[in-house]
Amino acid sequence: MPEADKEGKDYYLDIPVTCEGFFLKGSNSLDWGMKNRLSRIFNPETGRTVMLAIDHGYFQGPTTGLERVDVNILPLAPYADTLMLTRGILRTTIPPTFTGGIVLRASGGPSILKELSNEQLAVDMEDAVRLNVAALAVQVFIGGEYETQSVHNMTRLVDTGTRYGIPILAVTAVGKDMAREARYFRLACRICAELGAHYIKTYYIPDGFETVIASCPVPIVMAGGKKISELDALTMSYNAIQEGAAGVDMGRNIFQSDAPVAMIKAVRGVVHQGLKPKQAYELFLELKAKSKGMKKAGRTK
Ligand code: R5P
Repeated sequence: MPEADKEGKDYYLDIPVTCEGFFLKGSNSLDWGMKNRLSRIFNPETGRTVMLAIDHGYFQGPTTGLERVDVNILPLAPYADTLMLTRGILRTTIPPTFTGGIVLRASGGPSILKELSNEQLAVDMEDAVRLNVAALAVQVFIGGEYETQSVHNMTRLVDTGTRYGIPILAVTAVGKDMAREARYFRLACRICAELGAHYIKTYYIPDGFETVIASCPVPIVMAGGKKISELDALTMSYNAIQEGAAGVDMGRNIFQSDAPVAMIKAVRGVVHQGLKPKQAYELFLELKAKSKGMKKAGRTK
């Protein structure tokens, strides 16, 4: 039996107990587990995240750059704060030693051959807990054919996520015939936040993005979108961060680059170190040249 403790002697009566707010916008009233999970996604030092999105296969199969996640994506994982992916790829391909946050795709159903907004929930909360995820992601199709169904998918996830302490990421999906403008994104992001999403992924727009951020009470991360030049992607990321985004959730603009590791490091520079687009692009070129040089050296040995 351990010796009984004598009464403690130093209560630091001159040091008030701190009562700090949580670093993320709109998240202060969440429970400890939610905050802890959000801290696995957003770096508490910068308040921002670099999410690497590799979930494309859930509706479009083996996307260019994702044919072999083990070969092409695992080398990028150490530089991602978070991987956004499906449970199939997580269980089959991602080593459980990965300690970054996992944001699990939780909606699905239709393939690119069908009406994409006709999604349903595709993961049970119990499995999400089993996989120890940091958040669940759900597509919300505001203005889409199955708008209500997709919003309902989100609200059901918010309810069960709240029960288990798992945050929900709402991804605003924009139909082909919808105008990508501030008015639409203010509407879509605000609806998701009002109905309980803990953070939101949405597209950058050059005109009025800061009003989308200002009118949304939870953090927004910038969606990447289709592949553009590295300089353009870094410039878009920079502008989004300057205008209030809490990070980026980028896929094709990283893994479809001809130097993906260099690109994700340059994106990190923009997001976490405030590099300007030109500086980040120079970093990209420098790292790319180094990696090509190393590959060449390896081949000639
Ligand atoms: C679709 O909307 C999904 O969220 C994507 O599969 C993915 O996250 C898109 O990433 P990116 O547009 O940056 O390639």
